[in-house]
Amino acid sequence: MDKFLIKGGKALRGTVAISGAKNSALPAMAAALLTAEKVTLHNIPKVRDLITMSKLLAFMDAKVSVTEMPASDYVIEAPKLNHAEAPYELVKTMRASVLTLGPLMARVGTARVSLPGGCAIGARPVDLHLKALEQMGAEIGTSHGYIEARAPKGRLTGARIVFEKITVTGTENILMAAALADGETVLENAAREPEVTDLVVLLRKMGAEISGDGTSTLRIRGVEKLHGTEHTVIPDRIEAGTFLVAGAITRGDLTISNCAPEHLGAVLAKMEQAGVPIEIVNKTTVHVRSAKKLTGLDMTTEEYPGFATDMQAQYMALATQAEGTSVIVERIFENRFLHASEMMRMGAHISIEGHSATVRGPSALSGTVVQASDLRASAGLVLAGLVANGETMIERVYHIDRGYEGIVEKLQGVGADIERVHAPVS
Ligand code: UD1
Repeated sequence: MDKFLIKGGKALRGTVAISGAKNSALPAMAAALLTAEKVTLHNIPKVRDLITMSKLLAFMDAKVSVTEMPASDYVIEAPKLNHAEAPYELVKTMRASVLTLGPLMARVGTARVSLPGGCAIGARPVDLHLKALEQMGAEIGTSHGYIEARAPKGRLTGARIVFEKITVTGTENILMAAALADGETVLENAAREPEVTDLVVLLRKMGAEISGDGTSTLRIRGVEKLHGTEHTVIPDRIEAGTFLVAGAITRGDLTISNCAPEHLGAVLAKMEQAGVPIEIVNKTTVHVRSAKKLTGLDMTTEEYPGFATDMQAQYMALATQAEGTSVIVERIFENRFLHASEMMRMGAHISIEGHSATVRGPSALSGTVVQASDLRASAGLVLAGLVANGETMIERVYHIDRGYEGIVEKLQGVGADIERVHAPVS
C-alpha cells in the first residue's frame, strides 16, 4: 500500500487548478445508463472512484470510451444493458455504485445491486433510496447481500416522496428513476447540493423535465425516452476547500483556479471569520493569504448550503493552528472523527464527546506515522502533516486516491515537501 511522506513547515505559494467534482462525475456517469445514445462527459476527475464507476458501467455492457485511463473525457454508450447488476467486488470499494440503482430501474425495470454495508464513518444505510423506489411501484427484496428490485409493470410510476432525512445520492437516484417514470414525481426534503443541481442540468440536456433545482422540492415529469448529450461537470468544491485550508494553515499565498467560489460560501465565510484573508478574484478563482492571527471558531456540519461534512477533517486541522477553542459538531455522520485521534498523536489538543470535538489551539504538531481511515480524514491528515515539525508518514493513502486527483503533484507544484512512497511490489 502506498504512503505519503511529508516534511512539514513549507509555506505554499503559487496556483493550484481544481479538478472536476468527484461527486458530480459519479452520478453523471450513472445517468448515461438512462439512454441508448452517446453521452459525452468532460472534466471527470482522474481518481480511482471514477475508474471503478467506469468498470461498473462496462460490466453492465455499456461501452465506455476513453483515450487513456485515467481520463477526464468519457464517451458512454449503453444501447443495451445485459447485466443490470452492480456486483459486490465493485460496490465494496465504492459505495456510490448504488447510484446505478435508479437509472437501471428506470431504463430496464430491474436491478440487482450489492448492499453497500457500513464504512469507517458510519452505518450509511440506503433505506431511504429503497423506500422511495417502493413508493414509485418497485418491488424490492434483499437476498444474499444484494438489493433485488423490479418494476412489475416494467416502468416505475411517479409519486410524492418526502425524504425523512436529506440524502444526496438518494436524491440523485430518485431524480434519475423519475426521469423515465410514468407521470410526475414530487420529491420533498431533497438535497440541494451543487452536485445534485449539476445532475439536473445534465438530465435536462438529455430531455428530462425537471423543475425546482436548487430548492428542497424537485418536480420531475417522466418522459418516454432520454437522448444523448455532452456535459462538463462542475469543479470540486471539496478539493478547492482543502487547498484553501492548505494555503491558510501553512501561512502561504495560494491562488485556487478552475473552481466555483459560488459553491464555497460556508467554507469561505468560516475561514474569513477565523481571520484568513480571502479574495474572490473572479467567478473561477479564489486567493488565500496568510492570516495575521488565526482565531478558533465553532463549526457545525450541515447539508448544503451549510458547512460540508466532507470539509470537517480539514477544518479540524486548521483549528489545531488557531488561537482559542473551536467546538466542531458533526451532524451528518455518526463516526466521523477518526482523524482526531491521529491528530492528537501529532500533538493536537482535541477532546471528543459524542458528535462534538473540542479543539484547543494553537498546538505545535510534530510528525509521526499516522493512518488514513477514510477519504476526507486523509485530507485532514495531509494538512496536519504540512504544518507539523519533521516527517509525517501517512499510511493507507488509497483512501485519498479515491477522490483527490494528483494531490501529491498539485501540492509539490506549490512548494510542499511531499512524496508518494510506493508499496514494494510483492
Ligand atoms: C454523499 C457524498 C459524500 C458526502 C455525503 C454528505 C457522494 C457520492 N457522496 O454521500 O461525499 O459526505 O453525501 O454530504 O455524493 N442516510 C440514511 N438512509 C439513507 C441514506 C442516507 O439514513 O437511505 C443517512 C446517512 O447514513 C447519513 C445521512 O443520511 O447519516 C446523509 O447521507 P447521504 O447524503 O445519503 O450521503 P451519501 O449520499 O452517501
